[in-house]
Amino acid sequence: MLASSLMIFAFLLQSSYVAAQPHRSLNKGSSLSVEEPNDILVSSNGVFKAGFRGVGDNAYCFAIWFTQSSDSTIAWMANRDQPVNGRGSILSLLKDGNLVLRDVGSIDTWATNTNSVSLVELVLLDSGNLVLRALESGLILWESFKFPTDTLLPYQQITRYTKLVSYRSQGNYSSGRYTFYYDNDNILRLLHDGPETSSLYWPSPTFCWPEGRYKFNSSRIAFLDSSGYFLSSDQFAFSAADFGVGVKRRLTLDFDGNLRLYSLQEKEGKWLVSWQAMNQPCKIHGFCGPNSICVHGFQRRYCSCLPAFEMKNNHDWSAGCRPKFNTSFNVNESVFVQLRNVDFYGYDYGQPMPQSLEVCKGRCLQLNTTCKAIMYRNGSCYLKIFLFNGFLSRNFQGSTYLVLPKNGHQLYSKAILVKPTRLNCSGSTNDVKSLERIYLQKHENHFLAYLLWFVIAIGVIEMFGISIGCWFLYKAELGRQTRHDHQGYLFVLAGFRKFTYKELHKATTGFSNEIGRGSGGTVYKGVLLDGRVAAIKRLNDTNKNDEGEFLAEVSTIGRINHMNLIEMWGFCAEKKHRLLVYEHMECGSLAENLSSNVLDWEQRFEIALGTAKGLAYLHEECLEWVLHCDVKPENILLDSNYKPKVADFGLSKLLERGSLSNISSFSTIRGTRGYMAPEWIFNLPITSKVDVYSYGIVVLELITGKSPTTFYVVNTDVGSSDGLVPWVREKINASSSKTNNDHDIASAIEEIMDPRVDAQLCMAKMEVLVKVALQCVQEDKDERPSMSKVVEMLTHHENKRNVVVNEVQLHS
Ligand SMILES: *[C@@H]1O[C@H](CO)[C@@H](O)[C@H](O)[C@H]1NC(C)=O
Ligand SMILES: *[C@@H]1O[C@H](CO)[C@@H](O)[C@H](O)[C@H]1NC(C)=O
Ligand SMILES: *[C@@H]1O[C@H](CO)[C@@H](O)[C@H](O)[C@H]1NC(C)=O
Ligand SMILES: *[C@@H]1O[C@H](CO)[C@@H](O)[C@H](O)[C@H]1NC(C)=O
Ligand SMILES: *[C@@H]1O[C@H](CO)[C@@H](O)[C@H](O)[C@H]1NC(C)=O
Ligand SMILES: *[C@@H]1O[C@H](CO)[C@@H](O)[C@H](O)[C@H]1NC(C)=O
Ligand SMILES: *[C@@H]1O[C@H](CO)[C@@H](O)[C@H](O)[C@H]1NC(C)=O
Repeated sequence: MLASSLMIFAFLLQSSYVAAQPHRSLNKGSSLSVEEPNDILVSSNGVFKAGFRGVGDNAYCFAIWFTQSSDSTIAWMANRDQPVNGRGSILSLLKDGNLVLRDVGSIDTWATNTNSVSLVELVLLDSGNLVLRALESGLILWESFKFPTDTLLPYQQITRYTKLVSYRSQGNYSSGRYTFYYDNDNILRLLHDGPETSSLYWPSPTFCWPEGRYKFNSSRIAFLDSSGYFLSSDQFAFSAADFGVGVKRRLTLDFDGNLRLYSLQEKEGKWLVSWQAMNQPCKIHGFCGPNSICVHGFQRRYCSCLPAFEMKNNHDWSAGCRPKFNTSFNVNESVFVQLRNVDFYGYDYGQPMPQSLEVCKGRCLQLNTTCKAIMYRNGSCYLKIFLFNGFLSRNFQGSTYLVLPKNGHQLYSKAILVKPTRLNCSGSTNDVKSLERIYLQKHENHFLAYLLWFVIAIGVIEMFGISIGCWFLYKAELGRQTRHDHQGYLFVLAGFRKFTYKELHKATTGFSNEIGRGSGGTVYKGVLLDGRVAAIKRLNDTNKNDEGEFLAEVSTIGRINHMNLIEMWGFCAEKKHRLLVYEHMECGSLAENLSSNVLDWEQRFEIALGTAKGLAYLHEECLEWVLHCDVKPENILLDSNYKPKVADFGLSKLLERGSLSNISSFSTIRGTRGYMAPEWIFNLPITSKVDVYSYGIVVLELITGKSPTTFYVVNTDVGSSDGLVPWVREKINASSSKTNNDHDIASAIEEIMDPRVDAQLCMAKMEVLVKVALQCVQEDKDERPSMSKVVEMLTHHENKRNVVVNEVQLHS
């Protein structure tokens, strides 16, 4: 009796012990159950696990996930669109070699449709590939790598037969609207396929020929290697910011339509974005649905309904907005409401025509209510019959005019664009749709009430892991309200990190080696633990409570990457300490070099060009909204080859150029006397043109060697004094007004040129430089060129010269 109870006890002990062990493999005739938490397959390196994962209330999917990520990020799913019941569901490897996922009631929801008479096993490889293979031959019958969901793991190929499809939304794992795939022309693309519209958005659809892509390699194959290098047969390639082996990575098409490469920070179990396809999220189609527009904000994008429209679904912007007015109105009783800098991609009626605005409006009204709006740009008229893919961009020099009924005009005439609205995230958890359970009872059979089948509606769950998109929208709030354990999600490049105060104290040997004083702080030279020489800026006015804002700002700066912009390696935010860690530039600032006069004309021209490129990138390419506001020689640093890098950008305040209200004015004036644009003094709106002005002054200083803060010409006749700009302008104007003689202009330029430089000079280059500088310092901001125009003018000159040189060579 005792012996048998002991045996039973031992048996129980053993079976519980066995049950507690995750499996290494699954053999024919065995299965994994949804109810048994240890029915899990583990890869031999322990990096991946496969098993049932809850994706909603009583909804389970068979999935593969990363064990080391804090939220067990899912890398693959078998049945994303058809979750199974939390009771009675099993994954079985049948005797015939077929692997099936069986919902309760023996309903097969998913199967590999394989068959084999020999012995087979299901194993999870170290790569994260779940394979069904023959035991003896090792022949692979089926593998999860051939059926990706939204994620590509290293060495998993994307081919003509495979594609990535995003999740539907945050917390909803079913197939979404974005696809990453090889198109028929052999090019890797991103596609938005919504209920009403479908369009390609990457590579940029505005180029007929996607830049750098090659259409004629039909092998259609791409993959990420173990060092973080991605190569596609259409010659598209990129490297992770933290390029190198040993990092766990995944390439995921997120539900917000952006394709991102993530690197796992193993210590914290968090993911860092080490590359992404779209840097301007408003260019991703479909995120803001019909009748809404997308607006870039600081590190996030907003959607906003058009005036007289309201959100269709309060928790999903992709549903767009619906009109608040009766759409069958009399067009003879309508008004056009102008939306500046707003464009809608696609859905034009007929060909664009060069027409006056009045004629354009008339053409639109002729279409009755079919014409929803007109887009008018540079004298051309586009009729819009649908309002999809709308976005606001200051770089778009055109307007959209919405057709709206006249009654109610008072409601929206003032609201020339409502403020961007944020999705109410706080409320959404209260609004979780619970799963609809449909228990179909078998009436003829009374002892068994089978759970049959589920229609799944998935609520918002604690899956922080895929909340990147939401993060986009709410980062600012999060940053302000919470502690900073979300850091892993900041858009920082790997290598960009948080330093402790102690570390930096040590690196600078107690902040002993001061190398400069800039706006708001003192800069020290230091050597980091890894041997890199850094410039460490200690900010003065710090507020203990601004940590969120501070983090948000530095993470933006950390993301900016351009060869003419100083690179930020990290930061420190501890108690009252706020420090920024930058790369150190050997040759110091332009200010120092100008006063010591080591730069020749060629170098000065290159510095002017490089600085313009850096600023153009800040203004136009990276985030659209970063103004420098303090461009001066002290903030242009030179590397060992005297190549310039602009420093100190992004610190003042990142101006939300996208804010729909008037461009917000700065609370305090920024800048340095002598370099400040007139807008600051006259309290006019601050735009990127303030940087253009300051840049113009810097170029004049490069040319003349005279500082705007100390140089004055005293006009003895009138007894007044004049600054650098009037002096240069007068000299140049005087020469060109006399005769149109090149010689005179050349001699005028020689008169203003820094007399200390006696090296060779190319007069044509000097002329361009002077011309550009004078245009940049125009009083009227609209007469100043944009920074990209400046780059164009300076490089155009270079190219022209090259062409001439080539021609000469050809003819000789
Ligand atoms: C096509 O692409 C594949 C994969 O990148 C490469 O190995 C192959 O050489 C390419 N073929 C041609 C003709 O360029
Ligand atoms: C919209 O206007 C039309 C014609 O003016 C009218 O027949 C219809 O009832 C209106 N619809 C609504 C919802 O008010
Ligand atoms: C314009 O459209 C409205 C509603 O679609 C319709 O009632 C009206 O008859 C149309 N008018 C003309 C002139 O076609
Ligand atoms: C609008 O006015 C035009 C001409 O003035 C007229 O032909 C047309 O029928 C009017 N449309 C409606 C819907 O009243
Ligand atoms: C505007 O249109 C004119 C004439 O059609 C053209 O010459 C000019 O380049 C256009 N400007 C822009 C910015 O597109
Ligand atoms: C967000 O939703 C919550 C709960 O539904 C509500 O109390 C709150 O007022 C909402 N906030 C905004 C800004 O709409
Ligand atoms: C999840 O997405 C699917 C597919 O669009 C949809 O049918 C389902 O209702 C969604 N669930 C929730 C909770 O919105």
